[in-house]
Amino acid sequence: MGMSLFITFEGGEGCGKSVQARALYKRLSQLAVPALLTLEPGGTPLGDRISRLVKWGQDIAISPLTELLLFNASRAQLVAEVIKPSLKDGKVVICDRFADSTTAYQSYGRGLDLDMVMSINHAATLGLQPDLTILLDIPAEAGLTRKKDRKPDRCEQENIAIPRRVREGYHKLAAGNPKRWLVVDAALSKAKVTGIIWDKVERLLSKG
Ligand code: TMP
Repeated sequence: MGMSLFITFEGGEGCGKSVQARALYKRLSQLAVPALLTLEPGGTPLGDRISRLVKWGQDIAISPLTELLLFNASRAQLVAEVIKPSLKDGKVVICDRFADSTTAYQSYGRGLDLDMVMSINHAATLGLQPDLTILLDIPAEAGLTRKKDRKPDRCEQENIAIPRRVREGYHKLAAGNPKRWLVVDAALSKAKVTGIIWDKVERLLSKG
């Protein structure tokens, strides 16, 4: 059986985390390390439907509190249906966004009460915390420019005024738990970022 490890990727729009999550998954697969790649919101049949609602829902009102609960509904299902069972099977689970996204966007970004957000996150995750969280750190403006060539989803449109607060939120979270977070400068080349992440993951895997 493999070694279970829970790794999450975080960052603002256009930071390249999805590309890096895929690169890490590919590397592990090439080395025959049992791994699973998933994402938020989504990753389950229910989560995919919630994702479609929160990202592309048109002509429906979604209040900030509702949005918080929808992200966490998707998350609760993902934890129960995919993440916990996979960790139990000894897999390395890689998740593109997790509870820290909600803390960064819904609390630091949108201003929902931090304690409330954290306690709802905690309920949805059953207290599960990542072993490693990789923050691909990018200045807010840079990320938005990178994504300019395609249509922004509903979250991106609404979040457009708050990327600076989201980034500061991530920095606070990372500073509060430096053992769990690896902050990587997303302005480095793609290959360089992949290398930095791999060094860290390899060390964690060899610790066994
Ligand atoms: P992504 O494709 O960049 O991962 O987009 C997901 C969008 O959803 C992004 O704008 C951030 C937002 N989001 C939240 O606001 N809270 C959350 O908990 C999650 C998972 C995503």
